[in-house]
Amino acid sequence: MDKLFIEGGKSLNGSVKISGAKNAALPLMAATLLAPGKHVLRNVPDLRDTRTLLKVMEELGATSERNGDVLTIDATHVNNYEASYELVRTMRASVLVLGPLVARLGRARVSRPGGCAIGDRPINLHVMGLEQLGATCIQESGYVDVKVDGRLTGNTIHFDLPSVTGTENLLMAAVLASGTTILKNAAKEPEIGNLVDMLLGMGAKIEGRDTDELIIHGVEELSPADCAIIPDRIEAGTYLIAIAATGGAGTVTNCIPEHLPALLNKLRATGLIIDEDENSISVSYPEGKGVADLQCIDIQTMPYPGYATDLQAQFMALMSLATGSAVIDETIFENRFMHVAELERMNAIIKIKGSTAVVTGKGEDGLVGAPVMATDLRASSSLVIAGLAATGKTEIRRIYHLERGYEKLVDKLTGLGAKVWKESS
Ligand code: EPZ
Repeated sequence: MDKLFIEGGKSLNGSVKISGAKNAALPLMAATLLAPGKHVLRNVPDLRDTRTLLKVMEELGATSERNGDVLTIDATHVNNYEASYELVRTMRASVLVLGPLVARLGRARVSRPGGCAIGDRPINLHVMGLEQLGATCIQESGYVDVKVDGRLTGNTIHFDLPSVTGTENLLMAAVLASGTTILKNAAKEPEIGNLVDMLLGMGAKIEGRDTDELIIHGVEELSPADCAIIPDRIEAGTYLIAIAATGGAGTVTNCIPEHLPALLNKLRATGLIIDEDENSISVSYPEGKGVADLQCIDIQTMPYPGYATDLQAQFMALMSLATGSAVIDETIFENRFMHVAELERMNAIIKIKGSTAVVTGKGEDGLVGAPVMATDLRASSSLVIAGLAATGKTEIRRIYHLERGYEKLVDKLTGLGAKVWKESS
């Protein structure tokens, strides 16, 4: 049970380099299953989640080699179509092997991921789409078993809601289908654009990048990829908020400002100064101002380009330090306020009513360090931010949640001047 300790009250300053995006690396790694041969992926973050997916892919017959942030995946001998409960239960995104496996092998038997701390997380849209591409899907004893004789067949699929991994799974299934597939009301997160670029590089035929209507003309076969993972916009947002929460001034480098439109607008609206460069973003305060001078601002999480649900918890921590009150509406996941009770242990004032939380900013009073429990990846990053801003010491337990999605967190925070350390017990 590793713990993270934070000595709060030190302002973060300087610059921090952002890693490759977890939520791009996972679908792009899965997409290598579509074609035999050696695939090269660059700027791949070394995270608990990317390591778990590699284990799932090894179970399927792929081999891999990491050299720094370059990952070579050999998918030549992929011949097993079953992804076991043992691995899938530790990471829901393993469901991303479903589409590529059916397209490549005509069969996939993947453990249903089940719910997680932030919600039920059903995969009905993934299954519905595969059935519309001509596959038969049987769900029994905790597995979804998908079969198709020969190739999948292109079709028009309308998503009830723009599911991110749902769009990615059906995109990967459709590139090898016979005929044309149209995905309507598809998700358009930047990570999907990264996947489209990789597939186009492998010889796929896709139109509608960055729109909610993807048109995929199926091809007979694809060739191995050589593609770079985009920077992690959620990691970039997390560090921007951490620097602001400690009253500091700093720059996140190796990121794409255009991928964070909603966050940057909201941070400016609180009174912060945000400067954007080609691939860096700086945050600072007007002369003589500090975190208690920030104005509380309302947010509502939405599919991209709306405010990202993966940055909701971090923004809540910032609002608990500002002045006034902020209404935070979580519209994507039904149970994404697990961090509230923990922030309250640090003297935050937050009231929840259904999918809405009202934060009363503490202003000059600020937060106080305390022992707290991480419950999911982004909730735990909000506790780190609160701990950095709080007076006294904070102890965070179950930090394996953090290691799922933040590369070299302790080093990066220490580089910005934080007093943070990990203890294994
Ligand atoms: C992706 O999850 C991300 N994960 C999540 O990031 C992110 O929070 C989420 O998109 C929303 O942006 C990865 O990319 C690996 P969805 P995903 O399908 O694809 C409902 C993080 O912290 N739904 O877009 O699983 C679902 O319950 C993680 O890095 C169905 O009803 O999310 C939710 O309410 C957490 N049926 C909504 O859609 C389905 O078949 C959006 O979920 C699929 C989804």
